[in-house]
Amino acid sequence: MKVRVPPVKCQGIKTKLVPWILSNAIFPKDGFWIEPFMGSGVVGFNAYPERAVFNDLNPHIINFYKAIQDNLITPSTARKYLSAEGERLKQKGDEYFYRVRERFNQYHDPLDFLFLSRASFNGMIRFNSKGEYNVPFCKKRERFSKAYITKIVNQIAHIWRLLQIFDWEFRCGDFEEIILMATSNDFIYCDPPYYGRHIDYYDKWDEAEENRLFRLLNNTPARFILSTWHSNKYRKNSALDKYQEKFFITTKEHFYHIGAQEKNRNSILEALVMNYPPPVPTVEQSARQLAFFEDRASYSISAFSGEENSS
Ligand SMILES: C[S@@+](CC[C@H](N)C(=O)[O-])C[C@H]1O[C@@H](n2cnc3c(N)ncnc32)[C@H](O)[C@@H]1O
Repeated sequence: MKVRVPPVKCQGIKTKLVPWILSNAIFPKDGFWIEPFMGSGVVGFNAYPERAVFNDLNPHIINFYKAIQDNLITPSTARKYLSAEGERLKQKGDEYFYRVRERFNQYHDPLDFLFLSRASFNGMIRFNSKGEYNVPFCKKRERFSKAYITKIVNQIAHIWRLLQIFDWEFRCGDFEEIILMATSNDFIYCDPPYYGRHIDYYDKWDEAEENRLFRLLNNTPARFILSTWHSNKYRKNSALDKYQEKFFITTKEHFYHIGAQEKNRNSILEALVMNYPPPVPTVEQSARQLAFFEDRASYSISAFSGEENSS
């Protein structure tokens, strides 16, 4: 399947895992696709559900998509804005980036949010303990070339068109409220921050949050997938133990780089927890059969071929 990348990226974006996640999802026939932790939205957007609720604690992500929905941001206003601001960045460099950052931290304009996310170091979004955007400049004053602007505008145009067709709601709030709304007709895709990974104003996660999420998922009448990590070469995710008792877990090895060098290639075993048997055959299907600390290659590396498409 062709995975469409959204206009704003976030920490822990699941672009490469979308085909695997969607091939394991059960599509809601009459209900809603519910995403309590939407982040970039890459999973749900590529699922093309008729009806969906996308939620996040980060108001800037939600305001950005609401602005597209309300036609405050359209492909043409985005192009106009990025061309003008990109030109100023080219003229003034660093100083201009930090001026937009200050302006955003004061007024929270969703177009400034887009500008920052696309001109920041590594294209990431991060907020300090006061809730201020604090990623530094990527140091490329010619960042907004014509081709780059067209790429971003196309990403916005894609979402803008989907919002004309589908009944999607964007909400800002805590995950609990959204999960409690779910009925047996709905499907929940949950991708919380990974415990101990990133600390950010909107992205805090600790054991208490982990337990709160477990209680909610344990009681929901909806079907769900929870994305998490299973293990890396140093340790395993002990938070999975409690899910293992009752639910199904399937895993897939995922490679990522720290920096550009090949020697810094690392792998992590990603996990999907489901409250129904995985529709994609795995070497072993039941979570109860998974034994932590066995040779990784001997169990449950997904047999997903990448050909199944859920849209
Ligand atoms: C790992 S990211 C989601 C990534 C997303 N699936 C993607 O592929 O881009 C986790 C998201 O959870 C949000 N978040 C953190 N705590 C939350 C909470 N208590 N309620 C709702 N969202 C929360 C963060 O703002 C962040 O966007």
